Amino acid sequence: TTATDDTLRTPIVAVLGHVDHGKTSLLDKIRGSAVTAGESGAITQHIGATAVPLDVISEIAGDLVDPTDFDLPGLLFIDTPGHHSFSTLRSRGGALADIAILVVDVNDGFQPQTLEAIDILKRTQTPFIVAANKIDTVPGWNPNEGQPVQQTMDAQSDRVQSDLNEKLYEIIGELSDNGFSADMYWRVQNFQANIGVVPVSAETSEGIPDLLTVMMGLSQRYMKEEMEIDTSGPGVGTVLEVKDTQGFGTTLDAIIYDGTIRNDDTIVVGGLQGPIVTDVRALLRPRPLEEIRTEQEFEQVEQVAAADGVKIAAPDLGDAMAGAPIRVIRDRDRSEVIAEVEEE
Ligand code: GTP
Ligand code: MG
Repeated sequence: TTATDDTLRTPIVAVLGHVDHGKTSLLDKIRGSAVTAGESGAITQHIGATAVPLDVISEIAGDLVDPTDFDLPGLLFIDTPGHHSFSTLRSRGGALADIAILVVDVNDGFQPQTLEAIDILKRTQTPFIVAANKIDTVPGWNPNEGQPVQQTMDAQSDRVQSDLNEKLYEIIGELSDNGFSADMYWRVQNFQANIGVVPVSAETSEGIPDLLTVMMGLSQRYMKEEMEIDTSGPGVGTVLEVKDTQGFGTTLDAIIYDGTIRNDDTIVVGGLQGPIVTDVRALLRPRPLEEIRTEQEFEQVEQVAAADGVKIAAPDLGDAMAGAPIRVIRDRDRSEVIAEVEEE
């Protein structure tokens, strides 16, 4: 087990990219469940959050990660849909993120929603890396399930290596055309100045150890100060989705990114007709490694500390809006909190 500091919150990682480039499949692999299989038309219609604790990351990453190098508790991944009609969901995911993974199909390269995602990341100044996905589809590829990517690339024939490198350098070129200096991740020293490209396969898990290692390293190195929060402070979050939950009426799927929300808190939520002030009735939480939107049996919890996904049950949420802010009042001045929600 690893010592984690409870004043360091989990970094929020948005997974962005063009439709079908493999965002959900990558998370699915990491999660070890079968969300992709259950999706209608394999299009992700909703944003979900997946908490991956450090010990799981360390297990997947094997030799690449020494868990004692890290004191951040893990990573919280937010999946986003690539279909062109879901641009507000993508913006919401991008705005919420501390860091991001831009998924690009090595065969397809940059596509319209890849460029849209780049614009969101630029606008929100979110550091990101590129997962160059589907390397297993290069003709003649000889898969080495779950291996670090340099190892499996070295094991390919010269022809396959040069085919893949050509595709990867096209992606690096596209990044450069969009104003980002980029290189293969193992050549990047300063991830703030350069975008690291990680070749991966969501099919064979090749490169996934690298992807997790880079994300963890990036957060630890550049995000740590931003992750230092007062977890006992009044919670702050964002509504991802407003939906009915059996036995609880209208509920909010939310991400709490600061402080703590408790099951006896009064909260202010952005609504169509202005801020809604309401009392939390229940906090419902999926277990780690489970996806909020596929979890059937929620467990009721007393409190949820940032950063994490939570389903909030409370009266009067009918008017709440996806994307709206959530703020816990607790010992703060009620009108001040309402004013903050109104401004956001
Ligand atoms: P949207 O949510 O619709 O934007 O798509 P997505 O980016 O989440 O893509 P998804 O994970 O649903 O994958 C799309 C298709 O590509 C599925 O049929 C996957 O099985 C396939 N796929 C994803 N990653 C890989 C990969 O690394 N290799 C291969 N061979 N197929 C992949
Ligand atoms: Mg998807």
